[in-house]
Amino acid sequence: MNPESLNELIRNRRSVFPDQFKAGKKVDDAIIRQILINATWAPNHGQQEPWQFSVFTGDGLRAFADFQSGLYKQDAGDAFNEAKYIKLQQQPLKASHIISLGMKRSTKKNIPEIEDIEAVACAVQNIYLSVAAYGLGGYWTTGGVTYNEKARTYLGLEENDKLLGFFYIGHIGVPSAPGKRIHAEEKTNWITTA
Ligand SMILES: Cc1cc2nc3c(=O)[nH]c(=O)nc-3n(C[C@H](O)[C@H](O)[C@H](O)COP(=O)(O)O)c2cc1C
Repeated sequence: MNPESLNELIRNRRSVFPDQFKAGKKVDDAIIRQILINATWAPNHGQQEPWQFSVFTGDGLRAFADFQSGLYKQDAGDAFNEAKYIKLQQQPLKASHIISLGMKRSTKKNIPEIEDIEAVACAVQNIYLSVAAYGLGGYWTTGGVTYNEKARTYLGLEENDKLLGFFYIGHIGVPSAPGKRIHAEEKTNWITTA
């Protein structure tokens, strides 16, 4: 890997959403395992490695779709929205794999919670870049049942842990448009004098 290749990978990585995936085309599980190994090489404070993933694929996608739509129906009350319910049922089935992004709270008392969250976010960026490097599509969603306590427990996370969302992965059918960013110079102060 040379710097130019890395620059290209980082700058051309784009979120690819479920409607853009090739329907029904599965990614090899071995690739997902490699992507997850890359996730675990993220920096983390105090060697706590505070990530916990679950992977849904095959019939597991249906199980996840049923779980999240059922939970929404159960909790929505008067705010129940049929279109949202159907979306929660159908979106997972467009993916090849869905990875839940859990943060297991460090047992070391001196590590602030935000730093465990930051470490998992670094792991998710490794997932994003790995997905791009394999020529696949994917995105991080914090929608659906992400912040529902019952979803946290369903995914094996405990009271002090957090669910940070889900990463959807699939083969790209419709590529994303090129991205746009404000130039780094506008986001940076250089201090060069005493
Ligand atoms: C913490 C986080 C949460 C996100 N949640 C959502 C989401 O719920 N729904 C969504 O469509 N995209 C979500 N995204 C993806 C962003 O929409 C996407 O990164 C952004 O549009 C920039 O596009 P790019 O990833 O192609 O550069 C999320 C991204 C991050 C970092």
